Amino acid sequence: MAEVIADLEGKSIILGLTGGIAAYKSAFLARRLQEHGARVQVVMTAAAEQFITATTMQALTGNPVYTSQWDTRVPSAMAHIDLSRGADAILVVPASADFMAKLARGAADDLLSTLCLARDCPLLVAPAMNKQMWGHPATQRNANQLRADGVVLLGPTSGDQACGEVGAGRMIEPDEVLEELVAFFQPKLLRDQRVLLTAGPTFEPIDPVRGLTNRSSGKMGYALARAAHEAGARVTLVSGPTALAVPRGVNRIDVETAQQMFDAVMATVLHAQIFIGVAAVADWRIREPSAQKIKKGRGSPSPVFEFVENPDILATVAALSNPPFCVGFAAETHDLDAQAQAKRHTKRVPLLVGNLAQDAIGADSSELIVYDEEGRITLGPADKLTLARKLIAEIAQRISS
Ligand code: C5P
Repeated sequence: MAEVIADLEGKSIILGLTGGIAAYKSAFLARRLQEHGARVQVVMTAAAEQFITATTMQALTGNPVYTSQWDTRVPSAMAHIDLSRGADAILVVPASADFMAKLARGAADDLLSTLCLARDCPLLVAPAMNKQMWGHPATQRNANQLRADGVVLLGPTSGDQACGEVGAGRMIEPDEVLEELVAFFQPKLLRDQRVLLTAGPTFEPIDPVRGLTNRSSGKMGYALARAAHEAGARVTLVSGPTALAVPRGVNRIDVETAQQMFDAVMATVLHAQIFIGVAAVADWRIREPSAQKIKKGRGSPSPVFEFVENPDILATVAALSNPPFCVGFAAETHDLDAQAQAKRHTKRVPLLVGNLAQDAIGADSSELIVYDEEGRITLGPADKLTLARKLIAEIAQRISS
């Protein structure tokens, strides 16, 4: 399992629960928020208590759970003010249709709605309801009103619903809420920039069932796609075959061969301000893959393949007449400094990121060395998402200067 990063360290989150069957998922969410370093204060509506108990949420967070604005445990007798003071965000998960209606019209008739109205911090809500309720013009009107009021809506998505129906209104999963919240707090260093990345290995066919590939896991490229999205960029990720989930908000184009990766990049690169080539692209492909499975036979000779060189995607992009800011990667087994600087020059890219292949491939943590015309700096060692965020900051700084 990937290690947990304390990227919510020091954040104080009010987790509001309203009445919906998805309330049970907030128990996982509370746990996950704390694992990431957040302090979690739970507030529940009366309807939420029909679905999950305050005792459960208190046991999970280690903090008293508040359910009423008349709670005498709050010294000032003003729970809505005391609780919102010092909060970095209020997260309402799940947010029922009724609670969204309350928020939209500024109602304050229970502790959670009063807290939302009295807040001095961002409000993020994850709607969860039956598809008819979500699709109703009143709910859509309320959702638009909330967006106009600066509330961040997380989802909903489509899928199986507790009522047995399938459709829009299903709450996004706790880990997706977490990913959205973490992204929300990241500095918007690349706001509205278009970033194009390649990631993962390529796969060059030998015959219909065999091929040549490499040991790239795609983790670094996917972490960079996520970090760029968190920084406010519009991200397209051209990915070779990997088992990784697409980061939220990232547009992924799936390819197999280097030529397909080249074609996909060339079709989209003119819109990009930043191109990051992280993929481990095969240098060669087999000239004529067999249309049928190659069979071994007693006495028949071993196959001999003729290779042709694949196009160099990064070098081609960097040679465009008006190229995006280009970043290359080099995973080397030895002589990293010399090889990386040489690669930076031959590919004519302003930034080249090196790492030792034996440390980096497939691992969750690594160390990056960033080479530019001024020399080299080291990022890490750290987990790949932390490294990705640091590298995005390096890129953002160079673009803005
Ligand atoms: O030449 P080498 O493969 O070592 O260079 C690595 C860098 O070039 C990486 O950024 C990789 O994504 C990119 N590359 C490419 N197209 C190729 C080969 C490498 O974009 N055919």
